[in-house]
Amino acid sequence: MDKTDYIWFNGKLVKWEDAKIHVLVHALHYGSAVFEGIRFYKTDKGPAVFRLKEHTARLLKSAKVFNMKIPFTQQQLEEATLETIRKNKIGAGYIRPIAFFGYGKMGLNPEGAPVDVAIAVWPWGSYLGEEAVKVKVSKYMRIHPKSLISDAKVSGHYVNSILASLEAKESGYQECLLLDYTGNIAEGPGENFFMIKKGKLYTPPLGNILPGITRDSIIKIARDLGHDSEEKVISVKDAKSADECFYTGTAAEVTGIKQIDETVIGNGSIGPITRKLKTAFLDVVQGRNKKYGSWLSYAK
Ligand SMILES: Cc1ncc(COP(=O)(O)O)c(C=O)c1O
Repeated sequence: MDKTDYIWFNGKLVKWEDAKIHVLVHALHYGSAVFEGIRFYKTDKGPAVFRLKEHTARLLKSAKVFNMKIPFTQQQLEEATLETIRKNKIGAGYIRPIAFFGYGKMGLNPEGAPVDVAIAVWPWGSYLGEEAVKVKVSKYMRIHPKSLISDAKVSGHYVNSILASLEAKESGYQECLLLDYTGNIAEGPGENFFMIKKGKLYTPPLGNILPGITRDSIIKIARDLGHDSEEKVISVKDAKSADECFYTGTAAEVTGIKQIDETVIGNGSIGPITRKLKTAFLDVVQGRNKKYGSWLSYAK
């Protein structure tokens, strides 16, 4: 990770080296933290954060899972994010807001533990690379919506993603694909899944997945380009016979999928519609499409 100079921590900008916590914070032991991943991009008008409002709203919504009282308003957190970018003087990168149960209370019930909030930013290029990726259907099932809360971004949930990612890497794949408890496609470890058949996009319905902000953006951008989308239960067999498949996510942006297990998808590289969507997405995030100007929050 490329470090920057400052991290916003509980209301103040502190030096990167000084943003420290105790080994006995509640969240370290039990995963009782909520977080976001956001990107900001270089534009003609300076650094712009993509869909800052939606990401901050999701952070606050995730916190409700634990009845965690974040001691800052949405507006304060948004302003703090922009301030952290300005202070670090970087043009583009990744933003990691996190709120967690802190030091002072052990035991599973977090009530009474202090809530700490931090926002870090750092330069982060392409997450899965520019090329289409090979994905492996994981032996691990995506978290069951009756065990955990799929639409919240809770740190503890990511053990499921870590296990599936390690499994895929060990088998020579770049990324994994997790199935839900019904045996159908849920999502990647940090991405939403799409397939394209005859020019139409299909993506798993909400319920067993994180409602991705990139997923929502791509559905809207695709419509402008004449491609309808449908939320639909997708089996692995169905996906393997698609013309194109791709992942969306803040980190992964739009990443083509060229292979699922042993099956090559389409022509074995990023598909033409996926490429078109990726280009259109990059135009939006870099401020070149005025229609989506309201999705950008400028740091300057
Ligand atoms: C499990 C999971 N699914 C999907 C996504 C994509 O969501 P978004 O587009 O909001 O980054 C993420 C990333 O936050 C994720 O962690």
